[in-house]
Amino acid sequence: MGEELIICRCQEVTEKEILDAIADGATTVDGVKRRTRACMGLCQGKTCGRLVQSMVARQTGQNPADVPPQKSRMPARPVKIGTFGGPEDV
Ligand code: FES
Repeated sequence: MGEELIICRCQEVTEKEILDAIADGATTVDGVKRRTRACMGLCQGKTCGRLVQSMVARQTGQNPADVPPQKSRMPARPVKIGTFGGPEDV
């Protein structure tokens, strides 16, 4: 595979960036996520998560089933406090 192969299309993270993150000490998908932003795009890792998981397993000598998938977080956006019952213009 080429080092410029895009693994995470949403964040345009390459295979080389992920391998560098693992070489830098990432031993989990979340570790790679924090270092590269892979799995943080629009699809939230639905497309790239398993690829990153298998790369972590291969590079660290772990069984792929033992590498936990990335933690999912609910999408969040700011809302006015009035949404929760306070004054509308706050
Ligand atoms: S392809 Fe990685 S977050 Fe969508």
